[in-house]
Amino acid sequence: MKIDLSNKVALVTGGARDIGRAISLGLADAGASVVVNYQASADKARDVVKEITARGGKAVAVQADVSKRSDVLRLMEETRSAFGDRLDILVNNAGGLIARKSITEMDEAFWDARYGTADRIWSGKPNPQLVADTAELAPGRALDVGAGEGADAIWLAERGWTVDALDISGVALQRGRAEATARGADIAARIDWLHADVLSDELPAGPYDLVSLQFMHFSKADRTSLFQRCIAAVAPGGTLQVVAHHPPDLHTTAHRPKMPDFFYAADEVAELLDEDWTVVACDARPRSATDPHGDPISIHDAVLVARRS
Ligand SMILES: C[S@@+](CC[C@H](N)C(=O)[O-])C[C@H]1O[C@@H](n2cnc3c(N)ncnc32)[C@H](O)[C@@H]1O
Repeated sequence: MKIDLSNKVALVTGGARDIGRAISLGLADAGASVVVNYQASADKARDVVKEITARGGKAVAVQADVSKRSDVLRLMEETRSAFGDRLDILVNNAGGLIARKSITEMDEAFWDARYGTADRIWSGKPNPQLVADTAELAPGRALDVGAGEGADAIWLAERGWTVDALDISGVALQRGRAEATARGADIAARIDWLHADVLSDELPAGPYDLVSLQFMHFSKADRTSLFQRCIAAVAPGGTLQVVAHHPPDLHTTAHRPKMPDFFYAADEVAELLDEDWTVVACDARPRSATDPHGDPISIHDAVLVARRS
């Protein structure tokens, strides 16, 4: 059966090459007017448009880097001006714009670009293991290592903690600061947003009553050094919480970089603690999630909670 897409408008991101090219041609053959989006392959996009028009179809090529919001808005404007105020089919074929970097290249530019792909990339809610393990603690001074868009830091500040929220991404920190300000002057005043690289910069001067690391994945050498410095930054009576993607998650359909060396279980952190410490939890806690296909799955968080005497 041949589908009739006459009078429909289709946009194919990454539509100039490979599978994207085949999709553009297929949609045009079915009668759709096609916007062939490309990032760098201008010649290839022109060829696709030429081929479609030679077959009697309608197509335009539009350059846009779809990892940039401003480019996406311009792409939509150009789609409208080419084929009117409608879009019937969107094929999001462009991929790998961010993930082409290896995890070892995840520097400030990488994270700023990652955060730049959307107005917000995390849920805005505090991490569930942080809530589970610290809600009953008396507030004091906290360090949130890799604070991202600040949901954990803001949740802690709302509970009376004074927080140093540290991250390598200025984009993420700016978002956290704006959200804290929106929650009220008293919340904003309790959080310092610190722009730093935990692998090359010193941690801020402690001691802290709580040091929290949520989903910080580095090579074994880098994370061991980081854990040791975090352990040293905890005050007597204070708490360390480390939460990470548990290694067996790599064998599920969860979206995880295929870099087993960057995953660790909670006991790896526990082994670094001396007799001054009491391990409160050293777990692989199950949690429900949705995989990239939209299917429900069970994943596990590696959770280490320890208290210094
Ligand atoms: C997976 S995200 C987790 C964010 C947040 N902790 C959460 O759970 O929502 C990792 C965070 O670590 C930050 N990050 C990565 N490498 C870093 C580094 N070397 N120094 C400081 N922050 C870093 C990233 O910018 C990102 O915000």
